[in-house]
Amino acid sequence: MKLSKVFITGAAGLVALSLAACGGGSSSGDASGDAGSADQKVFKLAFNQTEQHPQYAAGVELGKKLEEATDGRYSVQVYPNEQLGGQADVIQNLSDGTVELMWVGGPVLESFNKDFVVFNLPYVFDSTAAQLDVLSDQEALEPLFTSIEDSQSITVLAGVNAGVRNVYNAEKPIRTPEDLSGMKIRVQQSDSQVRMIELMGAVASPMNNGETYSALQTGVLDGAENNEVTWDALKHSEVAKYYSYTRHLIIPDYLLMSTKALDEMSEEDRQALMDLLPEIQKVANDGFAAFTQASIDHATSIGAQFNDDVDIAAFKERVQPLVDESVNENDVRKTLYERVQEANAANPAS
Ligand code: GCU
Repeated sequence: MKLSKVFITGAAGLVALSLAACGGGSSSGDASGDAGSADQKVFKLAFNQTEQHPQYAAGVELGKKLEEATDGRYSVQVYPNEQLGGQADVIQNLSDGTVELMWVGGPVLESFNKDFVVFNLPYVFDSTAAQLDVLSDQEALEPLFTSIEDSQSITVLAGVNAGVRNVYNAEKPIRTPEDLSGMKIRVQQSDSQVRMIELMGAVASPMNNGETYSALQTGVLDGAENNEVTWDALKHSEVAKYYSYTRHLIIPDYLLMSTKALDEMSEEDRQALMDLLPEIQKVANDGFAAFTQASIDHATSIGAQFNDDVDIAAFKERVQPLVDESVNENDVRKTLYERVQEANAANPAS
């Protein structure tokens, strides 16, 4: 993998402006007290889930390794549980550089560049292996990953697996699109996700992940859709116990960085950061399968009901117009979609 290429291409024009590593606006310390010396710059990493999530571990690992690789000039403090805000809000702080790093769900990026939609479409990846194949192809991803540097000052550092998403609700197992009729289902905040769930038969309710639990609890929502990990870790499994395997999305999460913060690093320190990314991706991806099983086990123990008797062909047929419209919109998307098809052929569903 050539992850370093992302930066070299994307921010090359701004390298001349970079400040010396230690002089780049050091801000040491934070409320949790786990910070380095006065000369250390501690990057804030915003995360919307719990400390048990593999992306939390990956963020912590990034901080440890970055500190070692830069002789203590840089580190990372992870802020879990939406402490810095929901994804759609905190991403604004990346643009202004007050938060340097964050994990984000793919759909949130569609508001900055709609071409991100290709990887967020229902049934577009045939398998997790196909998704990982594409996410490791730095050459194919580079134009997309650097596409919002100029407009938003945001660089996409890496994409990782975020499980397979399925629908869940408080009332009943879902087998067909008709079963979703009239149900208010929370989706991630983007046009593609709204249209997807509408085509699947439900009423869309886009909102930040952190607002979902109380909306489910109070009956504002009938259900939501997510991987088992998020459903259980955020306690949605307590208030919406029917989890049905629609398997409609294999959608990536991305590690984002403020381009401004990247540009303020010395070239050497920046390269050290880029060199760590494959390892960080691996920590995030490897932890996912085990955490998924643990989540299923826990949800089962509190009485959740799983339903794998789902008419997937019917859901696929419903959402096909969205896929067709979205991938044929321009050449960038067509090329990305061809890359997905290649990965699907090499990594069919098991
Ligand atoms: C997943 C994903 C998150 C995303 C969340 C959501 O958990 O990993 O990045 O925020 O879904 O539905 O909002």
